Amino acid sequence: MSHHSLRIRLVATTLLLLAIASALIAVATTISLRQFLIHRLDDDVRASSRILIRAELGSPPTLLLPPRGPRPPDTLTALVRDGTVVTASVSPFGEDPRPVPESEYPDLVSLPEGERPQSVDLGELGDYRLVATRTPIGDTVVSGLPLGPVEAIVTSLVLIELVVTGVTLGGAGVAAAMLVRRELRPLERVAATAARVSTLPLDRGEVSLVERVPDVDPDTEVGKVGSALNRMLDNVGSALEARHESEVQLRQFIADASHELRTPLAAISGYTELTRREELSADVEYSLTRIASQTERMTALVEDLLLLARLDAGRPLERGEVDLTRLVVDAVADAHAAGPDHRWQLDVPDQPVVVPGDGSRLAQVLANLLANARTHTPPGTNVTVALAVEPSSARLSVADDGPGISPDLLPHIFERFARGSASRSRDNGSTGLGLAIVRAVVAAHAGTVNATSKPGCTEFTVRLPRSGA
Ligand SMILES: Nc1ncnc2c1ncn2[C@@H]1O[C@H](COP(=O)(O)OP(=O)(O)O)[C@@H](O)[C@H]1O
Ligand SMILES: [Mg+2]
Repeated sequence: MSHHSLRIRLVATTLLLLAIASALIAVATTISLRQFLIHRLDDDVRASSRILIRAELGSPPTLLLPPRGPRPPDTLTALVRDGTVVTASVSPFGEDPRPVPESEYPDLVSLPEGERPQSVDLGELGDYRLVATRTPIGDTVVSGLPLGPVEAIVTSLVLIELVVTGVTLGGAGVAAAMLVRRELRPLERVAATAARVSTLPLDRGEVSLVERVPDVDPDTEVGKVGSALNRMLDNVGSALEARHESEVQLRQFIADASHELRTPLAAISGYTELTRREELSADVEYSLTRIASQTERMTALVEDLLLLARLDAGRPLERGEVDLTRLVVDAVADAHAAGPDHRWQLDVPDQPVVVPGDGSRLAQVLANLLANARTHTPPGTNVTVALAVEPSSARLSVADDGPGISPDLLPHIFERFARGSASRSRDNGSTGLGLAIVRAVVAAHAGTVNATSKPGCTEFTVRLPRSGA
C-alpha cells in the first residue's frame, strides 16, 4: 500500500478500521442475542416439561396428549418407558399433533436426563432444544421446542448487520475521501508552490522570489510545513538579493577599474612613443620596444575587461540591421592583411545576410575568431570563413586545419582566461578573454556559439536569429 498516495492510504486505513470495528460489534451482538434467545427458549422448555409431567401424572400414560392451554407452537412431547418411546408428537399451533418420525426415536431415548436442555438434530423436524425428566412413576418425559425461530431471528439480524455495515462502509468511504481531500488541499498548495519555485531561474542575475504558499494556517501541521517553506523562501530570497547586490558591485568595480586604467595606459604608450624618437642605445631601444608591446597588450586586456563588464551588466546593445556578408568580407580582408602567411577562404552567399544587432560588437566576434585562427595555428594553415542562411537563423563558421584545441581545454574554451599552454607561453597578445567575449556578445544577440575540434579540423559555429525569420 506504501506506493499509493497518502489520500488513498488514509481512506483505506479508515475503512479497514471501521470494518474491523463493525465486524467485532456484529459478532458480539449476534452471539449474545443468540445466547439470550436460547436461554429464554430453555426456560420455556423446562416450563413445558413441568406441565407435561403434571399432565402425565393425572392421566393414563398411553393417552398422553399435549396439555391444553396457551403453549408455544411446535412443542415436542414424548414419553419414554423402559428405553422405548411410547409416544412422541409435535403439536403445531392450532392443528392436530403430528407424530415424531420413528427414525428420530434413538435420539429421544439416548437423551440424558437432567435440568439443562440440549440441542438435538431431529432430521426433518429440524433442531430442537430437548430436556428429559424422570417422573415420580419412573417414566421419562421428553419435552422440547424448535430452535428454528431463534435461528431465523439470528439470521435476519446477521442480514441486517451485513446491509447496515455495507451501507455504512460505503458512506464512510465517500465521506472520508471528501474529508481527506479537503484536509490535504493545503498540502497540495505547498507542493505547487515548491514546484513553481523549483522552475525559477535562480542561478544568475536579479531574481525576485515572490512565490509563497497562500493561506497558511500555522495551527495545523500542514500549515506549519507551508509557513516553514515560506520562511525558507524569505531567507533564500534575501540571500539571492545579497548575492545579486555583490555581483553588481563587483561588475561595477571591474568596469570602473578598467575605465580608470585606460588613461594611464594611453599616457605610457604616448611617452614610450615620444622617447623612441630620440637617439637611443640598442639596450634602451629594446626595452622601449618591450614596454610598447606590453602596454599594447595591457590596453587590449583592459578593453576586453571593460567590454565584458559592460556585457555582464546587460548594457543595451545598439540595435540595427547588420549586413553579416559585409562584416565577413571586411573581417577576412583584415585578417589577410594581418596574417599573409595563412590561406584565407571565403564562402558567402550572393544575397546579403542581414541580422538584427550591434554591428561593431558582431565585427568583434568575427575579429576574435579570425585572430584565433591566425595566432593559434602555424603559417600555411587554411582558414575557411563561411556564411549560410538557415530557416530562422544565420550560420557563421570559422574553420581551420591547424593543430586543434586540446580535449582538456575544449569544454572550457569559452570561459574567461581559459588559454592553451602554448598560447600562454607564446607572446602573441593572448589574454584568454577573446572567446568569452564571443560568447557574451552572441548570447546578447539571443544566438548560440559552439566549438568542435580535432587535429586538422577546428570549427567555431555561430548562429544568430535572422531579421523577420
Ligand atoms: N582556431 C584555434 N586553434 C587552436 N586553438 C585555439 C583556436 N581558437 C582558440 N584556441 C585556443 O583557445 C584559447 C582561448 O582563446 P581565446 O579566448 O580567444 O583567448 P586567447 O586567444 O586570448 O588566448 C586559446 O588560448 C587557444 O589555446
Ligand atoms: Mg583569442
